[in-house]
Amino acid sequence: MSSHPDHVPTAAPLDGDQHQLSGEQVEREYDVLSRALASFSESPDPRLKLLMESLVRHVHSFLRQVRLTEDEWAAAITFLTDAGHITDDKRQEFVLLSDVLGASMQTITINNEAYEDATEATVLGPFFVEGAPLVELGGDISFGASGEPCWVEGTVTSTDGRPLAGTRLEVWEADDEGFYDVQRDGNRLSARAHLFTDDEGCYRFWGLTPTPYPIPYDGPVGKLLAANGRSPLRASHLHFKVSSPEHRELITHIFVDGDPLLSSDAVFGVRQSLIKNFTRQPAGTPTPDGRDLDGSEWSRVRFDIVLAPSSRN
Ligand code: BEZ
Ligand code: FE
Repeated sequence: MSSHPDHVPTAAPLDGDQHQLSGEQVEREYDVLSRALASFSESPDPRLKLLMESLVRHVHSFLRQVRLTEDEWAAAITFLTDAGHITDDKRQEFVLLSDVLGASMQTITINNEAYEDATEATVLGPFFVEGAPLVELGGDISFGASGEPCWVEGTVTSTDGRPLAGTRLEVWEADDEGFYDVQRDGNRLSARAHLFTDDEGCYRFWGLTPTPYPIPYDGPVGKLLAANGRSPLRASHLHFKVSSPEHRELITHIFVDGDPLLSSDAVFGVRQSLIKNFTRQPAGTPTPDGRDLDGSEWSRVRFDIVLAPSSRN
């Protein structure tokens, strides 16, 4: 076997051993890899060069390790083509693919580095929309969406303990049939709102007790999950997007303690620190703001949010 450029991954000879490839075969595979890598050597953008060279190395390593067949390659191309066809300005199948591979959650984890006791981030998901209505503190974000009322309250502070007055919170969630407003016919916004913390950094609102629902599974990503015996269900959750000047924007959710789906969330969004106790309140239990719930059961949860300084992006 002749010598190879320094930048060729050292895993390659092992592949040859595992698959009992001849020296000539290994040489030919290296040759393709080397030429593909070399094609980026003059890239004027150093970051792009790094990304492309690393991508080529990893893709070739994958292809050679699994000994991809031509039928499998064609199936992958068909899958990506189908993902393209179902994607439009409302449906983004490529983000969904990234989500179910854990790639979205990993990118978020890399870019929201652990900092003191700052609240952990998780996936945005496809159902955030700009322009949700403003509610006053203690207001109801359901706007007619069906579900059990849930009192949500907490504080927003910085990692040094300072209350962050005037913090903007965007909150959104599915109804108890597992649908977001934007998945239903019509343009009515419901189960979403924005609100601001008071002078003590406190917030409170009425939402809905979260219930589980599936990610959109009527497309190629759904087929991929089914082919692998995976469920499309997400653990029950309530989304938050929290913005305060000079602090890192936080996109996160809270999850319901005791939900059996916590360990199998389809997009790997669950973090232990985001699992909260939604305490059940029997019918007739007085509400924090005196609201009359007409004899219905309700729940309540506390979520204290800590924001990292924006210098920790
Ligand atoms: C969601 O939380 O709504 C969601 C997140 C990722 C993919 C699909 C849905
Ligand atoms: Fe969601």
